[in-house]
Amino acid sequence: MGFMSVLSFAHKLIGERLQPGERAIDATAGTGQDTLFLARACGRRGRVYAFDIQAKALSLARRRLEKEQDSRLAEVTLLERSHAEMEEVLPADLHGRVGAVMFNLGYLPAEGADASVITLTQTTLTALEASLRLLRPKGIVTIVLYPGHQGGDEEADAVEKWASTLPPSAGQAIVYRQIQRPGAPYLIAVEKK
Ligand SMILES: C[S@@+](CC[C@H](N)C(=O)[O-])C[C@H]1O[C@@H](n2cnc3c(N)ncnc32)[C@H](O)[C@@H]1O
Repeated sequence: MGFMSVLSFAHKLIGERLQPGERAIDATAGTGQDTLFLARACGRRGRVYAFDIQAKALSLARRRLEKEQDSRLAEVTLLERSHAEMEEVLPADLHGRVGAVMFNLGYLPAEGADASVITLTQTTLTALEASLRLLRPKGIVTIVLYPGHQGGDEEADAVEKWASTLPPSAGQAIVYRQIQRPGAPYLIAVEKK
């Protein structure tokens, strides 16, 4: 049967914590798969903010959401901005009240996309720090990492170091990983204290 994929496990962890009507952030909108998941989980009284630095990604995400035509989805705000700016971009009254933040690092998985546009270690770390400040107590941040991609290994190491050295008073960090395949994608999740 096998274990759940890292993405499904991220969705499970978030689904167990995010409440209908809450706010959530997709830090790497890409094609919008996680944006749609968050919009379902937050429901029609909730709201999702989705960041991506590529207009192409946001238009794919928009198309995916429009195709759903589901009135039970949360309102989604697509932002062509770096996730490193999330604290400046989000309304001040949301600070400390966000239920979940999702990161899926690497490059846009779409035909014709520029694979040289990838998430970068420094901006990712800045955004992770900001995420912890934006989250409510017991809110969750999930990060899917790609150590098998060029640049992804260094970024994964840095994120793992960041999570493993977080003081327990800030939150609890876990890893979900197939340990016989060191190059396979894996998941880090942090639940804020
Ligand atoms: C692996 S993809 C995300 C996949 C997405 N969750 C999906 O469902 O398709 C990573 C995305 O991060 C975006 N990205 C790279 N640097 C970024 C940054 N600083 N801020 C926000 N998005 C960024 C890329 O443009 C790319 O679309």
